[in-house]
Amino acid sequence: MSGVQPAPPDPMVPQVARVRRRRQDAPDVFTLELEPEGAAAAAFAPGQFNMLTAFGVGESAISMSGDPARKGGVIHTIRAVGSVSRALTELRRGDRLGLRGPFGVGWPMADLDGKDVIVMAGGIGLAPLRPVIYRLLAERDRFAEVAILYGTRSPADMLFRSELEGWRQRLDVTLEVTVDHASEGWHGHVGVVTTLLPRIRVDPEKVVALLCGPEIMMRFAVQALTSMGVPAESIYVSMERNMKCAIGLCGHCQFSPVFVCKDGPVFRYDRVRYLLALKEL
Ligand SMILES: Cc1cc2nc3c(=O)[nH]c(=O)nc-3n(C[C@H](O)[C@H](O)[C@H](O)COP(=O)(O)OP(=O)(O)OC[C@H]3O[C@@H](n4cnc5c(N)ncnc54)[C@H](O)[C@@H]3O)c2cc1C
Ligand code: FES
Repeated sequence: MSGVQPAPPDPMVPQVARVRRRRQDAPDVFTLELEPEGAAAAAFAPGQFNMLTAFGVGESAISMSGDPARKGGVIHTIRAVGSVSRALTELRRGDRLGLRGPFGVGWPMADLDGKDVIVMAGGIGLAPLRPVIYRLLAERDRFAEVAILYGTRSPADMLFRSELEGWRQRLDVTLEVTVDHASEGWHGHVGVVTTLLPRIRVDPEKVVALLCGPEIMMRFAVQALTSMGVPAESIYVSMERNMKCAIGLCGHCQFSPVFVCKDGPVFRYDRVRYLLALKEL
């Protein structure tokens, strides 16, 4: 034995992974279970992301959407919005892609003990929050009230339906869902996700709210929570910005002193309120 430690993997070099499973969740959303070739998949914290490469097309930041306690494949839920995300969602079982990560700072799990927790998601925003929900449910006794509020444009866009049903049936969790526009057969709530807030009972002084969705949704959610008396320091948001290196080198995601890739993507709202008002550079 030489005692020489192997060099840590280069965070800029993707490892190859294969698609083990592919499932359609909505017309433009697919969940892929990936099996990295070579070294076992690294553990991740809820809210972190990987950089996924569709070979010959490009690379995109995609959050982990699986259970952080589960060993084995790496799970990502991807909405096809452009060339890279479309190419990723078109991969089939056995196809190869590049994967590097995990990157970023996730949700503040350690600060949730004894708190009422509101998980508030819009559209694809439920995917980066699903690992938190798994953790909240697995360690339910650590928290006071747990409320999951989820809104989508239409019923067809609703992700993880069978899991939503399972969460709804739990007596120790409040689940409320809504759609912006109902279609035939929808008997649930209609309205933007903030209209669900009056339906839950939480103590504004001991609540922590975790928000992920389109920025306009997060802005309105912050406004509604603040008017309920929830302090800005108790609200966390997951920010999306174009990423390249994902390790704080290229400056692509930088706003003033903040690198969304390495200081985020999850931030306490009072620290980034100015970011939520800024468009992409
Ligand atoms: C930290 C982080 C985590 C992310 N996690 C996820 C995730 O779990 N699942 C997921 O599907 N996406 C996620 N995204 C967004 C994802 O990275 C982008 O959708 C993707 O990179 C777009 O690249 P593209 O080449 O497919 O589209 P582009 O060619 O870059 O964009 C095509 C068009 O779509 C628009 N567009 C780009 N991004 C979005 C968007 N997010 N929503 C709506 N329109 C958009 C562009 O403005 C443009 O008009 C995450 C982003 C970040 C920064
Ligand atoms: S993506 Fe390069 S600094 Fe954040």
